Amino acid sequence: MHENSVLNPERIPRHVAIIMDGNGRWAKQRNLPRIMGHKAGTESVKNIVKSARELNLEVLTLYAFSIENWKRPSFEVQGLMTLLKTFLKSELQNLLDKNISLRCIGEIEKLPPDVQKILLQVIEDTARNAEGKEGLILNLALSYGSRSEILRAARIMAEKCVSGQFDPEDISEKLFASHLYTAGLPDPDLLIRTGGESRLSNFLLWQLSYAELYITETMWPDFNAERFFEALKYFQGRERRFGQTSEQLQAE
Ligand code: IPE
Ligand code: IPE
Ligand code: MG
Repeated sequence: MHENSVLNPERIPRHVAIIMDGNGRWAKQRNLPRIMGHKAGTESVKNIVKSARELNLEVLTLYAFSIENWKRPSFEVQGLMTLLKTFLKSELQNLLDKNISLRCIGEIEKLPPDVQKILLQVIEDTARNAEGKEGLILNLALSYGSRSEILRAARIMAEKCVSGQFDPEDISEKLFASHLYTAGLPDPDLLIRTGGESRLSNFLLWQLSYAELYITETMWPDFNAERFFEALKYFQGRERRFGQTSEQLQAE
């Protein structure tokens, strides 16, 4: 029996966000350089993207590199950028074949020009995928920080107020959300963090307001389809009350 069969197809989350943590520790446990952990981590990315597509998720957001990660030793940053470039080049055909559309969130302008170029190319080439009901949006958080995203939205909205496009009182949750990098995407239903830390590390602070949280000790390079199903099973066992009482929900 395939593990998949234990999941309720009616309750597959629309959007899963993952903090892919633990590559460095995975490598250290094996006496390998940290970058080997990141390399192994890209294999997990491929496996989870494949599972997400098979399970018919709408959006998979992966936290691949934070604004704070720029503070890491430059050889590690360079290694990560090289891996990203290799991943994008080698995955393009697969994304096209599987009807997966690539998007990104974050301060992309801070990435090295060669990485930006291939990233924007893959985004453009896959932009027409996942337009209908079938298909997956693979959303990469790169040079991403949630506070900076929120500040950016505030700044754009302030400029629009000054130029008379709308008034301060028009700023609703919906309008605010439409100025975030994630505009147009549903909020994540489930947040998975591998590597065991119980923190958000500046990830999607606005968008995760009502997400279910699943933290696993499994290091990212060891995270596979089976572990992913376990997280989804956990999600399916939650009662999402959104502030209401259990009785109210059952009466609906
Ligand atoms: C996550 O793994 C990948 C990135 C942050 C780029 P880490 O590199 O943070 O791994 P640990 O937390 O040191 O084990
Ligand atoms: C979060 O992991 C960022 C990514 C997974 C890309 P970190 O390893 O950078 O987070 P902290 O430093 O432990 O909070
Ligand atoms: Mg880490």
